[in-house]
Amino acid sequence: RRPEGLTSVPDVSTMVDPGSGAVDRAIFTDRTVYDTEMRRIFARSWLFLAHRDQFHKPGDFFQTFMGEDPIIVTMDKQKRIRAYLNSCRHRGARVCRADEGQAKAFTCTYHGWSFGLDGSLISVPNSGGYPETFQREDWGLVEVPNVQEYHGLIFGNWDPDAMSLEEDLGDMRWYLDAMLDRDPEGTVVVGGVMKWVLHGNWKLAAEQFATDWYHVNMSHASALQVLSPTGQGPKKEIAERTGRQFHNDHGHAHGFPVHPKNRFDAKTVHQWYDYDALRERLGDSRVEGPLTNGHGTVFPNFSYLPINGSIRVWHPKGPDRMEVWAWTILDRSMPEEVREAQRLYNLRTFGPSGIFEQDDGENWSECQAIAHGFMTNTTPLNYQMGIGSDREEPGYPGTTSELLSDSAGRAFYRRWAELMRTPAWHEQA
Ligand code: FES
Ligand code: FE
Repeated sequence: RRPEGLTSVPDVSTMVDPGSGAVDRAIFTDRTVYDTEMRRIFARSWLFLAHRDQFHKPGDFFQTFMGEDPIIVTMDKQKRIRAYLNSCRHRGARVCRADEGQAKAFTCTYHGWSFGLDGSLISVPNSGGYPETFQREDWGLVEVPNVQEYHGLIFGNWDPDAMSLEEDLGDMRWYLDAMLDRDPEGTVVVGGVMKWVLHGNWKLAAEQFATDWYHVNMSHASALQVLSPTGQGPKKEIAERTGRQFHNDHGHAHGFPVHPKNRFDAKTVHQWYDYDALRERLGDSRVEGPLTNGHGTVFPNFSYLPINGSIRVWHPKGPDRMEVWAWTILDRSMPEEVREAQRLYNLRTFGPSGIFEQDDGENWSECQAIAHGFMTNTTPLNYQMGIGSDREEPGYPGTTSELLSDSAGRAFYRRWAELMRTPAWHEQA
């Protein structure tokens, strides 16, 4: 049975105008907008679930969310990664309450229905009380129909007719590979999944990672000063760095400074890398740009920082709140001490108390806190930087523009508005 369609859908064309670069703050606060996002964006986009390295043997599981729906990701007996709605078919309780672990089956703690690793209902206590029409095979866990992997990143999509993950990513793969394909051995997860709550709409974080390099010198001034070797603030070439941002028409985006001496700030890591080999493998333009710097967003709510090996999901928790879930992923061939140096570097900069992460979270909470006023909520915001500067250039796939630009932000909201306007698979007759 398909979920019911919306009874009323907000007219987003009056809220977002990527052409003129105006965005209405109601998109960050309005409950109907948020409910529509759940149905028309999160119910049909590729959403990040977990990293492949979290699953080694059948029964390994990890619990996450797709939108606000709780999801169990697990490895079945055939070693296939599968994902299920974590809600018992009896009265709806979660059948798995642990964040992650190992299980032979998922048993609901309410009345004891039990589900196998393939999602089927395998045991029902006191089943003699049910009529003959009760068939266990009708009451298995709801399975996410599409689960696909890209270089170790596992994504799920509820849309049975969704285009493949690779097709959806398109040109974005070239930029993502700067993090995921540095090492022929792939990536591993180091440390646990860090989780924290922020006051702020999920889009504030997702769009910033897609498009915003304008905030860096101002918002992160103190962090840049701490990191600078002289203690005097960023070196001139950092403060005035140029670069690019990329976007494609699926709303995926990546921004990065370009500099021939772009390097990891963590010395141990920088010394370990063989830059000549990396240039050979990934090309000069990637090594001087996205590989060693930058951040990006896979639409709608997965973001990453190649320099840190930080990947994160901005889980929506109502219009005003998000939960950040962050993993550190590193090259599999990295020796232990280099891994540890990189893990600590990531923790200090973009962990929950990281010197950069704190600045960003503070900005989003600040913007959200005042967004509910009548006048603030009806006064449009400016996303005009770089209008008219989009270009195609050799060496960089897709559409690019200057580093300091709202171009990828406009692309993010163009995609957002397109999906918000179009009925999804579950609304078709
Ligand atoms: Fe799960 Fe009743 S709610 S067994
Ligand atoms: Fe920032």
